[in-house]
Amino acid sequence: MPPSSKLPPGPPGRFFSGNLHQFLPRRLDFFLDVAREYGDLATIRFGPRRIFLASHPDLIEQVLVTDAKHYIKHFGAQLYRPVLGNGLVLSEGDFWLRQRKLSQPAFLKSRVLTYAPLMGDLADRMLANWRPGEKVDVHYEFSSLTSAIALKTLFDLDDPGDREEFTNTLRESFDLMSYRIGNLLKFPLWIPTPHNLRLKRKVAHLYRVVDGFIAHGRARKEPGNDLLSRLIAARDEDGKPMTDRQLRDEAMTLYLAGHETTALTLSWSWHLLARHPKVEEKLVDEWKTVLNGRTPTVEDLTRLPYTDAVVTEAMRVYPPVYLIGRQATKDLELGGYRVPKGLTVFMAQWVSHRDPRYFPDPEEFRPERWLDGLASRLPRYAYYPFGGGPRVCIGNTFALMEAVIILAAVGQRFRFTLESHAPPEFEPQITLLPKDGIPAVLKRR
Ligand code: HEM
Repeated sequence: MPPSSKLPPGPPGRFFSGNLHQFLPRRLDFFLDVAREYGDLATIRFGPRRIFLASHPDLIEQVLVTDAKHYIKHFGAQLYRPVLGNGLVLSEGDFWLRQRKLSQPAFLKSRVLTYAPLMGDLADRMLANWRPGEKVDVHYEFSSLTSAIALKTLFDLDDPGDREEFTNTLRESFDLMSYRIGNLLKFPLWIPTPHNLRLKRKVAHLYRVVDGFIAHGRARKEPGNDLLSRLIAARDEDGKPMTDRQLRDEAMTLYLAGHETTALTLSWSWHLLARHPKVEEKLVDEWKTVLNGRTPTVEDLTRLPYTDAVVTEAMRVYPPVYLIGRQATKDLELGGYRVPKGLTVFMAQWVSHRDPRYFPDPEEFRPERWLDGLASRLPRYAYYPFGGGPRVCIGNTFALMEAVIILAAVGQRFRFTLESHAPPEFEPQITLLPKDGIPAVLKRR
C-alpha cells in the first residue's frame, strides 16, 4: 500500500509557534503526553517545522538502522555546531565514515579494557579528597572525575590547572546554544547580537584550550597511547594528515560526548540509590562479596551483575541522552505514513524507556528486572541509551566500564544523603542535566 498522504495524529498547536509553548516549559512530560495520547507515530510542530515522534521499537529501528543511509542528523543537533564543529557526532556521509574508521580502533573492547586501572586510580584520587560530613554537588564531583578520565585517555593530559574554567565555559556555551532552540527567530552567528557575541567569545576560549591540547600532542617526540595521538598520526588515501581544524572538532566532540554523559549516568545512579536504600544494600553486599574493599579491576567486571543491572536501570529511568533525531534526505515511508524530504523524526529514550508494554511499572527503579535476561527478550529498540545503527555511540563499552568501576570504587567508601528526597528536577539540554546540581552530604560507608 502506498504511504498515507495524511499526517500522523498530534496535539493541536498555535498558529505561529505550533507546540513550542507546550514543549519548552516541560520537554520530557510533553513527549510522554504526546506518545501516550497520539500513539507510536505522532506529529508535533515547532514554529513552521513539522516533526514526527516515533515511539515504537520497530519504527525506531527503521529510522536508525534500515533506512539509516537516507537520514542525517536533525536541526536540533545542528544548533550545537559552534562547539562540536564537523566532528564525529555531526559529520555525515563518506567523510563521517572515514573519521569513524580512524577513531574506531581506539574504542575496541580490548583497547578500552586497558584504561580500567587508570579509571580506578583517578577515582581513588578523588576519594582521597572527600571528607565525611562535607556538602557536595554530586554532579559536579562526577563531572570533574569523568573529565579528568577523558583528558587522560583521549589526550594523555594530566589534569590541566584551568579545567574548572574550561568546564564552566563549556557549560555556558551549551546554555547559550540550547537557548536558541526555543527561539523562532534565530539570527545566524555572524550577526553580532549580544547573544551571538557572548557565544562567540566562549567558543573562542574553548578553541584556544583545545588547540593547546593539539599543540601538546604534536610536540611529543613519540606518539602516545591516546586517541588524539592516533588522529594526529592518521593519513588519508592521499597521505594527507587531518587539518588542525578537523583535529580540534574531533577532540572537542570526543571530550564532550565522552565525559558529561558518563557523569550523568553516575549522578543519576546515586540519586536513585539514595532514594532506594534496599537496592543500595544489595549493591553493597555484592561489593563486599566480590571486591571486599578493592577498587574493581577488569577481571571483576563480569562478576558484578547487580552493579551492571543498577547502571542499566539508571540509564533506563534517567537516560543521559533522552532524545535523538534524524532528518530525511528524500521522501520516505514510516509506519504507513509519508516522511517528506527534510522532515525530522524524533525518538525519545525518555518515552521508550517508560513504555509499559516493555517495562511494567515503568516509573519504578527496579534493577532486578534486568537480572533474568530481559535484555534478550526485548525488541532491539525498546531500550537504546546509546542510540543504534551505524551512528551508535562509539564510546558505549568505555562508558559502561567507567560507570561500573567508579560506582563500586565510590560506593564501598562513601554514600550520599540528598538534601531533598523529592524526584529530581531536570534541565534537559542535549543531555539530561540536573537543575541546580544534586546537593548532598557525604557519609562514610
Ligand atoms: C553513558 C554514557 C554515554 C551515553 C548515554 C551516550 C549516548 C550516545 C548516543 C545516544 C549517541 C547517538 C546519538 C544519535 O544517534 O544521534 C552517541 C553517539 C556518540 N557518542 Fe556517546 N554516549 C556515552 C558515552 C560516550 C563516550 C564515553 C564517548 C567517547 C569517549 C562517546 C562518544 C560518542 C560519539 C563520538 C558519538 C557519535 C558517533 C557517530 O555518530 O559516529 N559517548 N552517544
